[in-house]
Order: sequence, then C-alpha cells, then structure tokens
Amino acid sequence: MRRLKRYDGSRDAVGRATAARAATLACALVACDPSETEPPPAAVFPQDWQASYTEVRDCRRSGDHDLNYVRILADAAALAPYQKRDAPFPDGAVVLKIEFADPECTDTSGFTAMRREAGFDAPNGDWHWQRLDATETVTEDGKLDRCIGCHTSCGAPPDGHDSTCAVP
Ligand code: HEC
Repeated sequence: MRRLKRYDGSRDAVGRATAARAATLACALVACDPSETEPPPAAVFPQDWQASYTEVRDCRRSGDHDLNYVRILADAAALAPYQKRDAPFPDGAVVLKIEFADPECTDTSGFTAMRREAGFDAPNGDWHWQRLDATETVTEDGKLDRCIGCHTSCGAPPDGHDSTCAVP
C-alpha cells in the first residue's frame, strides 16, 4: 500500500513537470513576453536559420539602407531563384538580411526579412516584410510601405529580381 502511494505520487510530479515544460514551450513558440500585453509577431524565418539557411551574399557594405554592413541568406526555396534569377520566388520562400555595425560582420545590429506568401499582398508581389532588432524580436511587420516603395524600384531588372535588390 505504501509503495503504491509513493508510485502514484511520483507520477503526479512527472505530470506537473511535463505540463510546465509544455507551457514554457508554447510561450517560446509565440515569442511571448510576460511584461508586454501584446506579444510581438513571430519572425518569418525559423530560429535555426544559422544552420538551415545558405549565404547568398557575403559580408559587404550595404548599397542603400541606412545601414553599415550586411550579409544576405536564403532558405532552400529561395536559393535557386535568388542565385539564378530565372524564375520567381515560390510561395514560402524567405530572404534574410543581417545588418552589422562593423566591417567584419561580427556585431549584429538587426535583421530584415521578406517571405513570399500567396495572397498576402497581391498588388505588391505577395511579400510579407519584417524588421527585427538584434535579439531577433520583430519590431515592424506586414505590408510595410517603406520596404515596398524601395524594393519595387530597386527589385526590378536589370539590377533586381522579383522585388529583391541585391546583386548576388
Ligand atoms: C532605401 C531603399 C530600401 C528600403 C527603404 C528598404 N530596402 Fe531592403 N534592400 C535595399 C537594397 C539596395 C538592398 C540590397 C542589399 C544592400 O545593399 O543592402 C536590400 C536588400 C534587402 C533584403 C535582402 C534581399 C535583397 O537582395 O533584396 C531584404 C530581406 C530586405 N532588403 C528587406 C527590407 C525590409 C523588410 C524593408 C523595410 C523594413 C526594406 N528592405 C527597406 C533597399 C531598401
């Protein structure tokens, strides 16, 4: 009898720990911050981008933004269209730009990203735009006029491709 009671007790403890872990995970997934009433939107790129994305443009001075130095990465879906420029980006493709304060690209100052989402913004090429701070917290999100305005002009041939502006 005593043994059985102890056994049940340990099961409850495991159950509580699992519930607590699940709550922590759910919080991480939606990037919630208990100090803010409205959590920032989730990034359009995954947390493991360093491992899963490919660099398509190495560290160099930015051509335009009020930035210093940048690197550009593409996910698997964006890679061929970005490099070959012979086809439009497919639904879900992501291009990520990392911004740095120093010429060696070690001191990250922020991120911008664009993800093609079918039906998101048809008149402007269906891109979902984001700006993030150095901690990868989204600070601007959606159909951002400033991004669209510039990328519509610099993202057209011969210099640009399908709303992307960098010459790889
Ligand atoms: C003043 C013009 C301008 C504005 C405004 C602008 N961009 Fe860009 N963007 C560029 C240029 C030029 C590049 C090419 C890389 C470089 O030289 O920095 C670029 C590159 C990028 C890239 C890498 C893919 C590529 O080659 O185009 C992303 C992602 C990006 N911008 C996102 C954004 C987002 C998000 C915003 C709005 C918050 C934004 N941009 C606003 C000019 C602009």
